[in-house]
Amino acid sequence: MNARTLGQPLDRVDGPLKVSGRARYAAEHPADDLLHGSVICSVIARGRITAIDASAALALPGVKLVLSHLNRPPMAQDDESYEDDDAADGSPFRPLFNERIRYSGQPVALVVADTLELARHAGSLVRISYEQQPHATDLREALSAAHAAPAELPKPRGDADGVIAGAPVRLELEYELPCEYHHPMEPHASTVIYQADGSLLVHDKTQGPQNSQRYLAEVLKLEPDRVRIKSSFVGGAFGSGLRPQYQLPLAAMAALKLQQSVRVTLTRQQMFTFGYRPRAVQHLQLGADENGKLQGLVHEVIAQTSRFEDFTEHVAEWSGMLYHCDHVRLAYRLAPLDVYTPLDMRAPGAATGVYALESAMDELAWAAGVDPVQLRLTNYAETNQNEGKPYSSKELRACYQQGADAFGWSKRSPQPRSMREGDQLIGYGMATGVWEAMQMPASARASFSADGRLIVASATCDIGPGTATVMTQIAADVLGLEPSQVEFRLGDSSLPQAPLQGGSFTVSSVGSAVREACLALAEKLCEAARQWPEAPFSDGAALRFSAGRVQQGEDASRAVELSALLARHGSLEAEVQAQPGKQRERYASASHSAVFVEVQVDEALGTVRVTRVVSAIAAGRVINPKTARSQILGGVVWGIGMALHEEAMIDHDLGRCMNHNLADYHVPVHADIGAIEVIFVEENDSIINPLGSKGVGEIGIVGVAAAVANAVYHATGKRIRQLPITLDKLL
Ligand code: MOS
Repeated sequence: MNARTLGQPLDRVDGPLKVSGRARYAAEHPADDLLHGSVICSVIARGRITAIDASAALALPGVKLVLSHLNRPPMAQDDESYEDDDAADGSPFRPLFNERIRYSGQPVALVVADTLELARHAGSLVRISYEQQPHATDLREALSAAHAAPAELPKPRGDADGVIAGAPVRLELEYELPCEYHHPMEPHASTVIYQADGSLLVHDKTQGPQNSQRYLAEVLKLEPDRVRIKSSFVGGAFGSGLRPQYQLPLAAMAALKLQQSVRVTLTRQQMFTFGYRPRAVQHLQLGADENGKLQGLVHEVIAQTSRFEDFTEHVAEWSGMLYHCDHVRLAYRLAPLDVYTPLDMRAPGAATGVYALESAMDELAWAAGVDPVQLRLTNYAETNQNEGKPYSSKELRACYQQGADAFGWSKRSPQPRSMREGDQLIGYGMATGVWEAMQMPASARASFSADGRLIVASATCDIGPGTATVMTQIAADVLGLEPSQVEFRLGDSSLPQAPLQGGSFTVSSVGSAVREACLALAEKLCEAARQWPEAPFSDGAALRFSAGRVQQGEDASRAVELSALLARHGSLEAEVQAQPGKQRERYASASHSAVFVEVQVDEALGTVRVTRVVSAIAAGRVINPKTARSQILGGVVWGIGMALHEEAMIDHDLGRCMNHNLADYHVPVHADIGAIEVIFVEENDSIINPLGSKGVGEIGIVGVAAAVANAVYHATGKRIRQLPITLDKLL
């Protein structure tokens, strides 16, 4: 492989477009006949719409349509099952399907007008009458109504409850975190361009253009080839774009009805009206010997879901694999409420479950009088006991070592409240992170254009991690080109099949496809060169393509230039689908991290500042350390927000999120963030995929909230088991 390209901190290939404003996002694509839609959302949490009076709105010049369940185009019925690629078990929500209200904030009408301002004003004139029914939105009140989740958990092993009852050190703990929302910088938006032939070209904010394309075709009963989705640039998503969001079918229905182009952009407030990380209550029981060696572990989770779908994520699983323990029982239940269905949000499940596990492990370290890092080493898992398999690679020990060294963990004085600077109590905390290293089937097409540029394409997208850049590096590396000679095309449902961009599996999935497509193209070039009339090759000699020519072995004097091949063949292309390798099946694969946090807590005010973080990551080979580091930084910042800031405040009388804006829903700002050091630990993995790469999109957040909470305990001696850790809880 080309050492100049893989592993290099290449600048983003689309960076200049993004910083100069030339990158168009979903709501920025123009159309001559463009109309603007504004969504009206339900103010009640449960009931039905009894009447819609749109007369005052429609009387305004320039208002074209008030779309509701009363006048929408045909939509798939209840018995016509369709599912998007990230659908939860159940019956998906369809906006404007009928008069039923299932949650506060549900879209109930779309006002379409010549301008956005007019549409919004007209929306304020639409009178909607409701018949209200009793609702329930408080998880605490619904815990006893929880049912087993449809997800398959690892079977219990050993006798966890019995062993814990007899263990020398026993802990029983409960942790809770609130609902949290994704809030990418770019709100969800769809610009539906109504084509002359009645087909739809849609610029959608999504993590899967082909997912949106199938969804729209199935829900609105359109021929699939009449819908094309583009998502050329995506301003962050973090999971919010894994499912098509309601602005997409609303804009498409309006465009079909009016036979005109329509754009619908959700407001920041409306970004609180669909999927979120669900509130969860977690119960942990640990039993250990006097040295902190785990003997038994029970992790029971109850999370909220909607009445119409069972949203499931892997919350408890991590507790059965992160540490060696022969007696484990895991449970996961869901409590349905009158709310919208939760949705995968960065490191879904792991961010939640590992927060509880790593907080509990810290409590165990104190209870057993063992250093928290030493406790992790004492309980180190060489294999994945959930799956009964060895790891394809696991350099977590090196993460602990390098992270602790860089952080200066050895300077920590063990007792709580034993470190201070003036009024500031100083705390050191740490935690482990883990995320599964997955691979999905994915396709890519590689071709040389007539001028010798390599064009590689796949229907993935780039929600911000730097996919376009990394795929460019992989393609350049395989074919011995400079990155500047490569163009990677993405964000278009008409390109070769690709999975959703999520799960940290884009590099392993699409990257493998890009690699294989480039190898197949090189093979085709060699075959074409062999057929060349004046081919200077000996019979049967091994040929290879590199740096713009096909040559015999290392002999550059026996070569056919790419330009000559292209002149003769026009263009050459290869398309492949890459599958996860069979060899993976005998192994478990995961990325790991060790995160170290320093906090300062003002003794009088209870304010918490995270002054330093060191995150040591083992995620296989890092293709681009610059973009990868940015992923970890983003994850760490988000983990700090999860620990200290983020909380959707629900008024359960109204069943409604009350802090639905970024002034009241707190996220970290620059002033909240101190020094963050990212260490990529060397980890060679020849099993997961030929790139040896595991993905870094999610691992950065996992464990961070626990590390912060553990540092706060070390600083103050107070254990706050309900996130976020706000000063009222500390004082
Ligand atoms: Mo990620 S939550 O799979 O976008």
